[in-house]
This record gives sequence, C-alpha cells and structure tokens, in this order.
Amino acid sequence: MMFFGGDYNPEQWDEAVWKEDDALMRRARVNLATVGVFSWALLEPEEGRYDFAWLDAHLDRLHANDVSVNLATPTASPPPWFTLAHPDAMPVTQDGVRHVHGSRDTYCLASPAYRTAARNIARALAERYGEHPAVAMWHVHNEYTTLCWCDHTAAAFRDWLRERHGSLEALNEAWGTAFWSQRYGSWEQVLPPRATHWHQNPGQHLDFRRFWSDLVLAAFREQRDAIREHSDRPVTTNMMLPGYQNLDLWALGREVDLIAIDHYPDAPGLDAAADTAFAADRARSFAGGRPWLLMEQGTNTVYDGDRILGKEPGDILRHTIGHIARGSEGALFFQWRQSRAGAETWHSAMVPHAGADSRVFREVAAVGEAVERLGEVAGSTVTAQVAVLHDADAWWALEVDGLPSADLDYHGSLRRAHRALWDAGVTVDFAHPEHDLSRYRFVVAPALFLLSDAGAENLRRYVSGGGTLLVQHFTGFVDEYLHARLGGYPAAPLREALGIRVEEYRPLRRGEHIVLSDGSRATAWSELLRTEGAETVLTYTHGMLTGRPALTRHRFGQGEAWYLSTGLDDRGHAALITRILGIGREPSGVESVTRHSTDGRSWQFLLNHTATAISLPESAHDLLTGAPVSELPPGGCAVLRNSL
Ligand code: GLA
Repeated sequence: MMFFGGDYNPEQWDEAVWKEDDALMRRARVNLATVGVFSWALLEPEEGRYDFAWLDAHLDRLHANDVSVNLATPTASPPPWFTLAHPDAMPVTQDGVRHVHGSRDTYCLASPAYRTAARNIARALAERYGEHPAVAMWHVHNEYTTLCWCDHTAAAFRDWLRERHGSLEALNEAWGTAFWSQRYGSWEQVLPPRATHWHQNPGQHLDFRRFWSDLVLAAFREQRDAIREHSDRPVTTNMMLPGYQNLDLWALGREVDLIAIDHYPDAPGLDAAADTAFAADRARSFAGGRPWLLMEQGTNTVYDGDRILGKEPGDILRHTIGHIARGSEGALFFQWRQSRAGAETWHSAMVPHAGADSRVFREVAAVGEAVERLGEVAGSTVTAQVAVLHDADAWWALEVDGLPSADLDYHGSLRRAHRALWDAGVTVDFAHPEHDLSRYRFVVAPALFLLSDAGAENLRRYVSGGGTLLVQHFTGFVDEYLHARLGGYPAAPLREALGIRVEEYRPLRRGEHIVLSDGSRATAWSELLRTEGAETVLTYTHGMLTGRPALTRHRFGQGEAWYLSTGLDDRGHAALITRILGIGREPSGVESVTRHSTDGRSWQFLLNHTATAISLPESAHDLLTGAPVSELPPGGCAVLRNSL
C-alpha cells in the first residue's frame, strides 16, 4: 500500500467539518493523516495536566474511516504557559535577543526544562496511544530547525567540546587560536559563536554546527526511546532539504526508522521537477537506499523568494509521481484543510478555502486514486550508478567567514551537479565521501572544500579500484579542523589520484567571465595548477593563467580522475558531465526512473516534461490509470510494470 494524506488539524474545526472531512478523505483515498503536530497547548493545557479526550475521539473517528494516523509529538511549538514558566528555555539569537511565544519553534534544545517537558509529553502520548490500532507511525517534533546561543547552549557546547577535543590545549590548536589573540585559558572562557566584531573563528563556527547537530540527535533520541517503550510502530521526524535544517542528515538518517522529508520547490515548471528529483534522491540516499516517505508537499505551493506561486494543473500529480518514482512510499501534504485563521491561512491545502468544489480538490482526489493504484510498487527500491558527494562538514566549512570568494555556494554546487545529471536522464544517489563508493561507475565531488584524511584516502581508493571521479575546484583544501593543506592542494591522497597539484587559487571578479581553450565560459574561480601525471584537457586563455591547465584527466590504477579548476557555466558543466559519462544524446525531456522489487518485478516511472506528446515504443498497461497507454501527453505521467 502507498500512503496518501497529509497533516490533519481537526482542532481548528467543528463537528460539521469533521463529518465532511471523513467523506472527503474517502473520496480522495486518504489513508494516512499526520495528527497533533502543533497540539501541545490542547494536549497539556497546564504543566503536567493532560487532556486526551479530544484526541481519543479523532483517532477513533479516523480509524473507523480507515485512515491510519501518523501521530506527532507537539514539541516544535511549546504553549505560552511553558514560556512563562521557563523563560530560560526560550531561544536566544546570535545577537542576544531572547524570543518569546507568539510563533512556533520557540525552544532551546539545550534547556533542561524544555528537554524534560518534551520527553514527558512524548511519553504520555506513547503510553496512551502506543498500541492504538489507528497509529501507523510516530512523527517526532517537526523539522528541528531552531538554533540558540543562550547560556544553556554555552554550557552544553563546552561539554561537547571537552568530549571532542579532550583538552583545552587541543581545542586551542584545532581552532587556531594563536591567531588574533584568541587563546583560551579556561573552559569558562569558551562561548558559542555569538555576534562579534569581525570574522568569526572558523573552527568555532564549524564545531558549533557539529555540536548543534549532535544536540538535535540527542533530543530526537530521547523522544524516540520514550515512544519505543510503549509502541512498536516506526518512529521518524521530518527533514527539510536541502539546507533548511542545520543537521548532519546522514546521522539523523541512522536514528529514524523511516526517512521522511518535506518538499516545497523553490521555482516553478521544469525547475520544480528537477528540485523534486534533487530532494527525493537525497531522501533515498539518507535512507541507505531503502524506501522513504514524502511527509509534506503543497498542493499549490512553490516558494519563490518573497512570494508563493501556484502550481500548474497536473503539477500535483507530477510532483507526487516524481517522489514516488525515486522511492517514496506515497505522498502526504501540508495540510489536509486550509486554515481559516492563523499564521498559515494562505498556505495551500488538499481542501482549499473554496472547499471540495474546486480545481485543487478535484486534482487531489484524482491523484489519490492514482496513488492507490500504485500499491504493488510499495517496498521496491531504486538503484543508481552515479553518485554526488555530500558531507555536512563540507557544507558548514563553506559557511565560515573569511573565505576567498562569496561565490562558493555549497548547495548550489550540489544542485548544479545533480541537475546536469538529471537533465541527461541519469539516476543519482548522494553519498558521503567516506562511504564505500565502489558500486558507482561515476562520482562527482562538487564542493568538498573540507575533506578529511579518510575521505581523501577513500576517493583515491575509489579511483584506483576502477571508478571515474570528477572533482571540482576548491576541493580538499582543508582538513576536518579547517586547517589548510600545506605543500599544494588538495589533500595528498587525492592529489595523487588526480595527478595534479594546485599551487594558487585566483577567484574571479563578480560577474567576470573567462574563456577556456574550447570556447567554453567560466566564472567565479580559477587556479594555478600543474600536472603531476595528469593530461591537460582544457587550458585557460586569460592573464597569467593563459595556456595553463583548467581541466585535467588522470588515469590512475584501474580508474580515472578529472579535475575542473574553474566554475564552468551550466552548459559547459553539463557537457563535461555527459562527456565523461559517454552520453552523447540531447536530453529527451522525459524523466524515466525504475523501481525494482526483490522478487524481480520492476516499474518504470515516466514523466513527460516537454510540451509535445511522446509516443512509447509499444503500448503498455499504465498503473496510474489502469488502462493501456501508447503516448504520453505534454506534462503526462505513466507507470509501467515491466514483465519478468
Ligand atoms: C513546513 C512545516 C509545516 C508548514 C510548511 C509550510 O514544512 O513542517 O508545518 O509550515 O512548512 O510550507
């Protein structure tokens, strides 16, 4: 069975609406509702006094209507009584401003009072509903996002640093405090990276991000374990990709029973489809290849800077199928019924303000029917032969002050690499630089400014074992402490695999374009490098770099390693990736992904992103409609079962 449904907040409505909800959920084939995400003030109206009667009634009603429940712990939005009783548990910004209630996400994960309150409400819910027949899974918290720089945080950060570095001496060494008279003489002097005068210490910044990620994991584990004492249903929390949450999502992936993500594209049209694939491929990768779940999407929500754009007719199906194609076990939305009051009154929903007699609800109901027909696909997986490397340390390293260029965009680089592969019709995994990469025939490292010794060694081993690696500029320039690699970049084992040595980095001026020897254009960055065994494929044609290598290729062991030392524009970059992969053809505009089951069955998901109809090689049975299909209309989707 595939899941279909969304966040359900019945506490915003009355009985007449609940009755209509029951009928409309049946019509839309809803089988999973996420309940209680923001219900703390109702569930625990005063500290220690619980009121579950209303939730009992809704869970029983949903169950009677064949809708399972993804039961949330409400800890992302503590009620006003909590703030007033525990003002020290409110988050403090980097500038020292303490936030109060009136929105959501107002909590400090380092505050003992908050942690206790969160654990207590999670335990109380699990005690009451752990065995409830409606409960299919647990949704801990909501998108752990809040960062805090308060005194509780400072104390917890010091404990974490003691554990990581062992001694103050080691901390001073790691953070390079010999520079700018930053040497710490006692642990009490060490602070979280609060607002300061000029460049912040980079090591302090990076360690703070790592610390915060560990703190989130600890807070999640506490709730998860309290739930597990009373329930055997899977426990998850929803991730928001790619960079909304300052978390090591690989690490979070190891803690949850099921990876769940929320996804709201940040541009319409083809970009939204590419962004869907980007999010879905990351989700599947964090899940270690296992199926995962799209926990939230919008029926009509595309965030575009300072506005929310509507989706086009057919987008709800295309985005839903885009996620399921890449391993999601269904599609849920935020939210079931559009709120008539409150902060997200204008956020889209499955049942809009206009009610069931609306384009949106009709599309939702049709998508629900289509998803229901995909039941046999559940549990099947997707395999990829190409990986893009992602590491939270490398991301956070590119955020520090004092880097040589403002054009170094971590997620932008990953997105670009993924987009070039997506446009070429290649299914992509994400992998960590220290993962076993041997199953991939091609690996792209777009932005590993920070690369650990183990990571550099692993990449060397990957190439020598027969892999093809593309490394992009400014990679492996620092180690895991953000200390520069001396004697030439990148880290020695990677240098050996690449057969090059970078001597000097030369960022380009804002807006400056340079031209390489084949006429391709590049921006942002250039490097003076010399080959040490690699062949030069392209050279620079400007200034002191004229005639020097810009793109190199090195046969090493059984494999080969490419190094691109500049920011090729999108076209050149995409052409390079398809050239390395040996794909000559123009992109067809039809996205095709296959899910395989362990018993040998497979399903081909097709999405026609072009404005013209595409004929299939032969007529086939389309699971989405239950009818034969021989042609995909513009924007059309199909799911074909491949025979054994
Ligand atoms: C997130 C949250 C939801 C809602 C949506 C709006 O994903 O989890 O509660 O705020 O954003 O897009």
